[in-house]
Amino acid sequence: MQNLEQILKKRILNFGPISLSEFISEANLNSKYGYYNKNLPFGEKKDYITSPEISQMFGELIAIWSIDCWEKMGEPKQFNIIELGPGSGVLMKDFLRVVKIKPKFIENCKHIYLFDSSSLLKKIQKRNLIVNSAISKKIKWVKKLDEIPENPFILIANEFFDALPIKQLQLTKIGWRERMLNYNKKKKKFFISYSNKPTMLKFFLPKSENLKKIGLIYEIPLNMISFLENLFTRIKKIKSACLIIDYEKKKIFGNTLKSIKKHALSNPIEKIGSSDISAHVNFDLIKEISKKYNLSADGPISQSEFLINLGILKRTEMLIKIANNKQKKMLTKSLEFLIDKNKMGKIFKVISIKNKKIKNLVGF
Ligand SMILES: C[S@@+](CC[C@H](N)C(=O)[O-])C[C@H]1O[C@@H](n2cnc3c(N)ncnc32)[C@H](O)[C@@H]1O
Repeated sequence: MQNLEQILKKRILNFGPISLSEFISEANLNSKYGYYNKNLPFGEKKDYITSPEISQMFGELIAIWSIDCWEKMGEPKQFNIIELGPGSGVLMKDFLRVVKIKPKFIENCKHIYLFDSSSLLKKIQKRNLIVNSAISKKIKWVKKLDEIPENPFILIANEFFDALPIKQLQLTKIGWRERMLNYNKKKKKFFISYSNKPTMLKFFLPKSENLKKIGLIYEIPLNMISFLENLFTRIKKIKSACLIIDYEKKKIFGNTLKSIKKHALSNPIEKIGSSDISAHVNFDLIKEISKKYNLSADGPISQSEFLINLGILKRTEMLIKIANNKQKKMLTKSLEFLIDKNKMGKIFKVISIKNKKIKNLVGF
């Protein structure tokens, strides 16, 4: 049994089952044994691959989107770029190469703030991004959004919200109960059990006629909700915008908790800490929260539509013209991965939430 499993086992046996959000938080980010603090997840030989890791074009096109966004914000003289969960830093690396085409954008950008809880990945980000250039001197790491001064900002979050802890409710014979992580001493295995008592979380349940089917699971992304409340308060106050790209949660009910090991789905409650744990993102909920703050939304649309609207087909053609045969094959394969509806093109959705004073953005 791994160290993190020992810790969780002891905690459960001493104090009782733990909520899924506590379990996800420990599995992903325990400072010593959490997945993101022990592993570099991205790559063909590693556990999974993300869009910016697949192709430089992803970060490049987000740079084009950001320049358009900055122009529509009225070209503020002092603004910040923020990236949530930058992984290896590759998106920002490709982004910074492209924004050079707009010297004023770079000049007016006060800081680039990166927010990540993994100390291992922060080291890798530093290695990849701190090069001897004027723009890299603007990069700073923050532990909280509140540390960032209140200038207008453009925030980018690719596959960040799916990594935040969620809670789950399930309809049992005695009513809605919270799903918890428990440990069976005899079988020496973790398992899911239910809170003994009804929980306040049931007030999050949607009004739906389908609420009577025993076994139904409803997910509540509490961490995402509180993060967005904070973010949207700022977007409203200081004419800013964000771009969120993630796995879309398609159905209102159902269990989307998953972990991926060596590019295959694995059981999230087995070998805890050796693979990441994530859950699909509810884009309708993001939109609904944004309405509370009187913000406007572009999207959600599919990743494929977004990248095609931003010119990925032309960009691939351009790169192919100067590529050797091996690179040509790679470019074609990457393009397919990013936009094919059976790969990342359809399951990933893109939404921008912005201050109402910012007009419709390119890409949507
Ligand atoms: C799925 S990876 C995505 C990485 C990158 N955006 C990409 O597309 O390649 C999730 C990232 O979010 C970070 N992360 C996960 N949970 C977090 C949390 N609760 N707070 C801050 N960062 C977190 C991880 O360390 C990692 O960098």
